[in-house]
Amino acid sequence: MNILYAASEALPFAASGGLADVVGSLPAALVKAGHDVRVVLPLYKDIKQELRDSLRFIRNFQVSVGWRQQYCGVFEGKAGSVTYYLIDNEYYFGRDGLYGFYDDCERFAFFARAILDMVAAEEDWTPQIIHCNDWQTGLTPVYLQIFYKHLPKFERMKTVFTIHNIQYQGKYGREVINDVLGIPLYYGSILEYDGCVNMMSAAFETSDKITTVSPTYAREILDPWFSHGLDRCLNSKQYKLTGFLNGIDTDLYNPETDTAIAKNFSASDLSGKAECKKALLSELKLRGDGSPLIGIVTRFVSHKGIDLIRNVFEEMVEMGYSFAILGSGDKMYEDFFREMAYRFPEKVSVTIGFIPSLSRRVYSACDMFLMPSQSEPCGLAQMISLRYGTIPIVRETGGLRDSVTDAGDFEHGGNGFTFKTYNAHDMLDAVRRAKALYDDKENWKKLQLFAMSCDCSWAKSAELYLGLYRELVG
Ligand code: GLC
Repeated sequence: MNILYAASEALPFAASGGLADVVGSLPAALVKAGHDVRVVLPLYKDIKQELRDSLRFIRNFQVSVGWRQQYCGVFEGKAGSVTYYLIDNEYYFGRDGLYGFYDDCERFAFFARAILDMVAAEEDWTPQIIHCNDWQTGLTPVYLQIFYKHLPKFERMKTVFTIHNIQYQGKYGREVINDVLGIPLYYGSILEYDGCVNMMSAAFETSDKITTVSPTYAREILDPWFSHGLDRCLNSKQYKLTGFLNGIDTDLYNPETDTAIAKNFSASDLSGKAECKKALLSELKLRGDGSPLIGIVTRFVSHKGIDLIRNVFEEMVEMGYSFAILGSGDKMYEDFFREMAYRFPEKVSVTIGFIPSLSRRVYSACDMFLMPSQSEPCGLAQMISLRYGTIPIVRETGGLRDSVTDAGDFEHGGNGFTFKTYNAHDMLDAVRRAKALYDDKENWKKLQLFAMSCDCSWAKSAELYLGLYRELVG
């Protein structure tokens, strides 16, 4: 099958979160299964020069953005086995950073339409499916339905839309419909939801299938507590909604070969993991007294469950834990962690920022990884942790629930510690149980080895996606 992945970020080109990991690894798994899968994304200024230098210009044309005609260049490149198309427009993408500009609506309307114009111009390759991801590509199925479906090349083309996080929907005022999106007002019903333009609900309306990144999240988002207002729309689309658990790139995240960590290790010899811990403790200037080390790598925003951590942080330190914390986000949380690092300098370290190499050292060195999210569509950090023998402590929500089982059920496949209710003391109980098992060295090692043996690769889910694509193309 020919499949085009459309996304606003993908590793190794541009990344701000988990979406980039997924778009940077799932297509490769599908190529490995024998399919021609390519990826299209914006040519951001942030993309490193050496990657830019490896690209080849293929063509340019004009794209309609409302009444405007905008230049669009298409570059082609390779990352591993996957072909990438990069959409060039200096005005829209020649800025520092990926999102957060006053004209994001216009930037991604341009991108969504440029994808279809690129497909129209390409003579040698036509996708049977365009697989869109999150609101930034939500308008592609809308434009396809309104402006391209009557053309022979697009007649049988199908679309899949994946929700990576339902919180970010691309909501704008009605005035953009004609002026910015260039869509006649009589199509308003496709675009409008709850009184404004909503790019995510518009994608739900027009795409052939909707998927999300774990089976549990696919159920959760039908409920108002999780849906950020979209449950009404999604409930009527259940017939085309499914959830497949994300995988991770197990070649990239491999403790046996990872060059970012202090010492490589494997399930047959864990001594390198102890070296990693020693090195990280000394890097972060923490006391190496044999106490268990918890890693936290996250965005400091409320839905990541930072409030739970904040509520019982001192109790966890008193329990004997040390912390290696990496992330950035709301100032209130950054300040809280800074204060804790100041008060417990030998036990708590916080690094404010997004530093992929340090995150690898944290995943490899820590004993446990804490992820008490309020909601978590999938979550990748817990899977990376499992792969590095770092035991996840998670709340049972979304993909966390689908990838981590409580080790109270160790005999039956428990690979971490979990709690159900969004409550700081329930989390504390899981943290206490983790400490009790950590003190039982023999069983702790068994748990680590079991965690490392869990399959977090794309193998299973790639098959599920292929099944879905086959259903569509017949
Ligand atoms: C978003 C979600 C995260 C998920 C990732 C990749 O960042 O918040 O849970 O793992 O997308 O699908």
